[in-house]
Amino acid sequence: MKSISVRAVRTLKVLRREIALIRSRGESLALVPTMGALHEGHLALVKLAKKKADRAVVSIFVNPTQFAPDEDFSRYPRREADDIAKLAAVAADLVWLPHPAEMYPANFATRIAPEGAAQDLETEFRPHFFGGVTTVVAKLFNQVTPDLAIFGEKDFQQLTVIKQLVRDLDMPLKIVGAPTTRARDGLALSSRNAYLSDAERQIAPALIQILRDAADRARRGGNVHQIRADATLGLLQAGFTKVDYVDVRDADTLGPYQSKSRRKGRALAAAWLGKTRLIDNVGV
Ligand code: PAJ
Repeated sequence: MKSISVRAVRTLKVLRREIALIRSRGESLALVPTMGALHEGHLALVKLAKKKADRAVVSIFVNPTQFAPDEDFSRYPRREADDIAKLAAVAADLVWLPHPAEMYPANFATRIAPEGAAQDLETEFRPHFFGGVTTVVAKLFNQVTPDLAIFGEKDFQQLTVIKQLVRDLDMPLKIVGAPTTRARDGLALSSRNAYLSDAERQIAPALIQILRDAADRARRGGNVHQIRADATLGLLQAGFTKVDYVDVRDADTLGPYQSKSRRKGRALAAAWLGKTRLIDNVGV
């Protein structure tokens, strides 16, 4: 039987040595940043990384700076041994598991402050979020020095903000977006789905159904204000307990969607089922 294993690295010193070894062989390198609790959606990104580069590095780091004090940082699922086994099975080459004290030593004092695509939507409800994400992602890029990095369309605003970060700061790598992996009933796979009760899990696919309907209407030139109002009502009627936002935006800038401009659009939403916040999006 073929034995499968993957090298897990926990210090920056060892990581740099491993990366230098890969580079000395002239191999290309792709990075897949994650917070662990890996599911098929994450693993699809790793498989794509292996197609696009000789070597795939996966980082697992539950990044404290992108959680607000009242968010789920402490209860965020942590399943390191299970994650490493899953990564071995998809032939990842390295797992980078930085120690929090090495990522954020006591004297750490720098934070990226993204604007543009980071304004609005998620930021209205999680103002700290993209500052934390861009800062940790910039650190991961500097640590791993990949040729490309892969991010899921599941977090569409995040993907857009990372593309903007790389463009604005002249970072020497390519950002690749990967399609969303879904359960059979359409629900986007997410580590946070584990928080849903059986009853909530039944309601959850309404999110993507309503977004698809919103995208259809936008495609046919529907009025965005009306689409937004109907989708909000639809989510509440389906059983969502609170709607943070539903909107149709320009897919590249996340600015207002101009239905007559022939530019691509994106329908995006964030809504709550009890204590669990779900996000999803679909192309227009
Ligand atoms: P995390 O939520 O673990 O997601 C890691 C990557 O997997 C992200 O690029 C995300 O968009 C992608 N992903 C999650 N669910 C997916 C699905 N169902 N289909 C396809 N891709 C999916 O996003 C983060 O971590 C963090 O913010 C991070 C970028 C690692 C910075 O801390």
